Amino acid sequence: MNAFAQRLGLRWPLIQAPMAGVQAHALTVAVSEAGALGSLPAAMLSPNALRDELQAIRAKSSRPFNLNFFCHTDPAPDTAAEAAWLAALQPYYAELGVDPAQAGSGASRAPFGEVAAALVEEFRPPVLSFHFGLPPPELLQRVKRTGAYVLSSATTLDEARWLEQHGADAVIAQGLEAGGHRSHFLSDDLSRQQGTMALLPQLKAALRVPVVAAGGIADAAGVAAAMALGADAVQVGTAYLLCPEATTSAVHRAALQSDAGRHTALTNLFTGRPARGIVNRFMRKLGPMNPAAPAFPLATAAVAPLRERAEAQGSGDYSPLWAGQNASGCRAMPAAEITRSLAAGW
Ligand SMILES: Cc1cc2nc3c(=O)[nH]c(=O)nc-3n(C[C@H](O)[C@H](O)[C@H](O)COP(=O)(O)O)c2cc1C
Repeated sequence: MNAFAQRLGLRWPLIQAPMAGVQAHALTVAVSEAGALGSLPAAMLSPNALRDELQAIRAKSSRPFNLNFFCHTDPAPDTAAEAAWLAALQPYYAELGVDPAQAGSGASRAPFGEVAAALVEEFRPPVLSFHFGLPPPELLQRVKRTGAYVLSSATTLDEARWLEQHGADAVIAQGLEAGGHRSHFLSDDLSRQQGTMALLPQLKAALRVPVVAAGGIADAAGVAAAMALGADAVQVGTAYLLCPEATTSAVHRAALQSDAGRHTALTNLFTGRPARGIVNRFMRKLGPMNPAAPAFPLATAAVAPLRERAEAQGSGDYSPLWAGQNASGCRAMPAAEITRSLAAGW
């Protein structure tokens, strides 16, 4: 197997993408036990929940796994922007019969900080990946002192170079096809971002550290194509969304299996940052991009009651249905089988 897989003790250089909101340790463990690198997303977990998840992984598997964090800068509280956003959502509150007093406020996701660093020191995950750049230097040093291998995603060549210079052991080339949040951190100009086939070879030509291809890879042929373009490994998210080990909601699963699953767009409506998801009514009406959405992650609180009410009625009209452009690899089958079918690309 290649140097990347050897370095991390994997059977194949394949990473199951961390996917906050649609998975916990069961998917991580299933993929790691199958011989690839399972990931645990920590962005939406409280410290206690993260501890429970890490304990569950340690109890069920001794294989390598990846622990993933967001490392955005917390936005300044902005009650005016949150109030304006809630006002923009009034027609939808009225339509669904939801009381606006139910809207929460504040941040829905915390960046990597002191408490998370202490948990990393305690549990010593062999691999850590970050989204939206890297933690501040002193926190990154604490992570590195545990011996962890550190990855982060780049959407442009500039970001990839920055990550290499600031201590990433490998860089994930996140093509525009990818599901979930765009990982950009140097520029939010989406027109600077490229698809996987365009981005990957440029990063390979410019970087010394290994490059992981992510975005739109859904089957063995996609894996082989990424390797032909020089990828040292691939990271696959969307193809795992229908696995029984994922916690993907019923409305999300239904959308992925319908024609709608072929129509995705980048939207800032659900969190305040662009992320790729299946186009639904909310995105058609208010976006997909809307300048009234407050800074990440402040947009989430006001949308949450709408989502809850709609989902209770079996509707995904107000849910973030994160998915990449290529949902063709989604199968309702165990994660180990998806992993093995992707691995046939080597
Ligand atoms: C449902 C979903 C949730 C995601 N959540 C995260 C996350 O919490 N952290 C992260 O680093 N990347 C996240 N991503 C992005 C993935 O890391 C990766 O870039 C993407 O899945 C690759 O493209 P693909 O979905 O076409 O395979 C998410 C992607 C999806 C589809």
